Amino acid sequence: MAIIKKINHVAVAVDDIESSLAFWRDALGLEMTELRDAPAEAAQIAFLPVGGSEIELVRPTTDDSGLAKYLAKRGPGMHHICLEVDDIAGMLAQLKARGVRLINESPRTGADGRQYAFVHPEAAGGVLVELYQI
Ligand code: CO
Repeated sequence: MAIIKKINHVAVAVDDIESSLAFWRDALGLEMTELRDAPAEAAQIAFLPVGGSEIELVRPTTDDSGLAKYLAKRGPGMHHICLEVDDIAGMLAQLKARGVRLINESPRTGADGRQYAFVHPEAAGGVLVELYQI
């Protein structure tokens, strides 16, 4: 059985990274270790490590991505939680066997080589869940 290892990151949808940093970095005192353009995701992402996990502030850079539509519809706020798993293909098979609705039926590979897949929020009480295998 595939095993969830930890919360890899929590992603927060923002419409302005700099103003969001006033809370996450300046008020809370978290360090932003990286600010990266992610063209494949049509987003700009600020990374703020917290223990062994990260807060990611994610800003869409186009109007037509899923994230951009989410922001337009619901405004800024928590977007998804990412769980790191030891065997993503095994976990997806396990979820499918239970009838859990998935956005990605099979793992996708990110620009950094990590494998990821999203579970449909309908299956998780309204929470968008991302699975990661490093
Ligand atoms: Co993510």
